[in-house]
Amino acid sequence: MKKVIVLGANGQLGKTIKDYSPSEVIKFHFFSRNDLDIVNKNSLKAIFKDSGFKYCINCAAYTDVEGAETNTEDAFLINAEGAKNIAEVCNTYHVKLIHISTDYVFDGKKNKPYTVTDQTNPINQYGKSKLQGELFIQEQLKPHYIIRTSWLYSLHGKNFLKTIINKIEDDASLNITTEQEGTPTSCIDLADFIIHLIDKDSIPYGIYNFSANGNTTWYGFAKEVAKNYNSKKTDSIKPSGVFKTLAKRPKYSVFDLSKTERIYKEINTWQKSVENIVKAYKG
Ligand SMILES: NC(=O)c1ccc[n+]([C@@H]2O[C@H](COP(=O)([O-])OP(=O)(O)OC[C@H]3O[C@@H](n4cnc5c(N)ncnc54)[C@H](OP(=O)(O)O)[C@@H]3O)[C@@H](O)[C@H]2O)c1
Repeated sequence: MKKVIVLGANGQLGKTIKDYSPSEVIKFHFFSRNDLDIVNKNSLKAIFKDSGFKYCINCAAYTDVEGAETNTEDAFLINAEGAKNIAEVCNTYHVKLIHISTDYVFDGKKNKPYTVTDQTNPINQYGKSKLQGELFIQEQLKPHYIIRTSWLYSLHGKNFLKTIINKIEDDASLNITTEQEGTPTSCIDLADFIIHLIDKDSIPYGIYNFSANGNTTWYGFAKEVAKNYNSKKTDSIKPSGVFKTLAKRPKYSVFDLSKTERIYKEINTWQKSVENIVKAYKG
């Protein structure tokens, strides 16, 4: 039985992993922010010492992209220093780390999918803090997987898909930007990939991209949610131009998935995964 610690367990990815059917080969130990703050290295040490954890999944992060522009110190404390603390503790206690990063490490100036070796150049504070976290992990710890993912949604917490469903329920009409191109990713698909890494236990360490297949805009994503949730409401969603925000967003952040699919399997299209989750949402 492999013992696996999950940090940031009350976020949408953490909760999705919790939903994962109990496995006969993995025993998960879930820690929310209240149970274990990744900024506090002594607390981490105390939990990791003599624990016998084989893997650590770090779902803990400062994820408020807008907030990071003004609370930059907090974003770096959690996304960079927190990641460093985890890497150091994993190194001391021989735990393999699976860390989640983001498409926002890129500037979005490319017009074809980003590979894992493409030059990073974040254009907002959240992206900068997440990139610093990646760099600290690479410096501190050899047995690591850094999974860059994008546009996460799930049945839990606050996310774009749930916001659109709520707006449809309220009969609101919506103007959604067509300015960014990327790929919505279901936490269920990502959780399955994470479990695959642990199950196999022999996949080469390093950076992996993980999203669904294909790409769209936030407008296209919203339309697809409406189509699956209540097709009579698709017309209430209209395309719009730039959505003014404090944080700059990459215009294009589609991933090249070839490295990931070589060690995993063909990943769902984003439309298929949206269909699956809306079905699950409706129950
Ligand atoms: N959401 C996206 O669209 C997206 C896209 C690309 C990459 N990612 C990455 O994917 C990962 C999972 O994201 P998510 O959407 O599941 O995020 P989420 O729902 O915001 O969950 C993050 C969790 O981390 C916890 N946390 C914050 N500071 C902490 C600390 N100091 N110690 C321990 N826990 C702490 C939060 O607790 P509180 O709620 O109590 O603060 C929250 O439960 C993150 O690394 C994120 O950067 C997300």
